[in-house]
Amino acid sequence: MNLDGSVQEPEKKECSPVCVGKEDNIKKSGRMTAVVHDREVVIFYHKGEYHAMDIRCYHSGGPLHLGEIEDFDGRPCIVCPWHKYKITLATGEGLYQSINPKDPSAKPKWSSKGIKQRIHTVTVDDGNIYVTLSNEPFKCDSDFFATGDFKVIKSPF
Ligand code: FES
Repeated sequence: MNLDGSVQEPEKKECSPVCVGKEDNIKKSGRMTAVVHDREVVIFYHKGEYHAMDIRCYHSGGPLHLGEIEDFDGRPCIVCPWHKYKITLATGEGLYQSINPKDPSAKPKWSSKGIKQRIHTVTVDDGNIYVTLSNEPFKCDSDFFATGDFKVIKSPF
């Protein structure tokens, strides 16, 4: 219920943008964490672009806000600090290197497992950063770690 006594529809609340901080601050640190409508997210500022995603890695719930950003196949990725999975910042795809078993001498090439990490929308208004949660209806692997016992990570940022 809102302060004025009106009832807010659940879908509306889930999708409304939430202010998570100041542009100046994230530009200095390169990343920040936030809770948006009871969902923990990490926001990265990388090469002039903002990216937000679920904070817990889709593989086993690793803390992505503590990972390094590296380019793989020309795509900026967060590398999970636990088992080094690579997740594209722009799309949340899991990347891996594959080889052709019929040609083991061939150079491994980067391939996509598809979207594994849920990506959220970042907007900037008057120096403030807003995150709008994704309401894409597909089941994303990172959803599992965005609920229940896996919530609440203490962040050094
Ligand atoms: Fe992220 Fe395993 S938990 S790679």
